Amino acid sequence: MTRIWFVTGATRGMGTAIVKAALDQGDKVVATGRNIARLRKLFANVPTDLIEFLELDVTSEPQAQSAVSEAVKCFGRIDVLVNNAGYCLLGRFEEATAQQIEAQFATNLFGMANVLRAVLPVMRRQASGRIFNTSSIAGVKAVANATFYSASKYAVEGMTLALADEVAPLGIQVTAIEPGFFRTEFLSDRSAKYGQSHIDDYVPYGNARALLATADGQQQGDPAKLAKVIVQVANLDKQPRQLLIGNDAIDFVMPSLEKRIVETHEFASLTQSTDF
Ligand SMILES: NC(=O)c1ccc[n+]([C@@H]2O[C@H](COP(=O)([O-])OP(=O)(O)OC[C@H]3O[C@@H](n4cnc5c(N)ncnc54)[C@H](OP(=O)(O)O)[C@@H]3O)[C@@H](O)[C@H]2O)c1
Repeated sequence: MTRIWFVTGATRGMGTAIVKAALDQGDKVVATGRNIARLRKLFANVPTDLIEFLELDVTSEPQAQSAVSEAVKCFGRIDVLVNNAGYCLLGRFEEATAQQIEAQFATNLFGMANVLRAVLPVMRRQASGRIFNTSSIAGVKAVANATFYSASKYAVEGMTLALADEVAPLGIQVTAIEPGFFRTEFLSDRSAKYGQSHIDDYVPYGNARALLATADGQQQGDPAKLAKVIVQVANLDKQPRQLLIGNDAIDFVMPSLEKRIVETHEFASLTQSTDF
């Protein structure tokens, strides 16, 4: 059966790759993004009955609602939602302004929630659906110098896992995908933002630009291969609830997961000392 995909942030990076991978396996796609002219140019060679382009800045709930109703008008259903749109605010806790923190959550968490609120009623009516919420390895192991990016992706994990339990009985499967470092524009100045406050005390310890921007263009992950993984998972009878993607991902998060278990055992007697 041909499935209908709805992808956010399809103008660049992983979003573009996911649209291509879904089309490659014979599915149809609603490609959404803030720059519709760019979407049309990117996918100019795709037959028009296989793809629909819709403007969607995920921070706008009205736009999310109208994009989803347009998508249903066009293709009749939405089988797979990929909540991909996002960016990173880099820098230490104290370097980020309140406005920058709010903007980070407005896109990575509340934007994702806007799209979910619009799509879930469609999937409930269908009694089926697949959802991929893009988290990060930074949503499993917090990354210093990417404090509020990590915080936003931890929030994505919490929302995704709770939602997965809520909608499983309704035939909807939800996965948090946790990519490692992938070679997109993510760490470039076209996407990444940096905390605006400068604090002298941190100067001897380096800064986010020096620590992270150097990785731009060197990331080992291929977004086309990530996209193929997502297509494969969407074809499984049972999706995982959380999925690390990328050769670097397991090495990156495993020590912190193991440390958590060790610490849990180490402090168990204190933890369990609070009953009446
Ligand atoms: N690349 C990595 O190493 C990596 C690792 C872990 C997780 N991720 C996650 O993967 C997702 C995709 O990132 P990427 O690597 O493909 O980065 P990218 O190359 O910078 O692309 C980001 C995409 O998100 C879109 N976007 C940002 N804010 C948006 C908004 N408010 N509304 C709609 N679209 C918006 C951008 O649209 P415009 O073209 O309009 O700016 C662009 O299409 C993000 O959620 C990111 O956090 C990436």
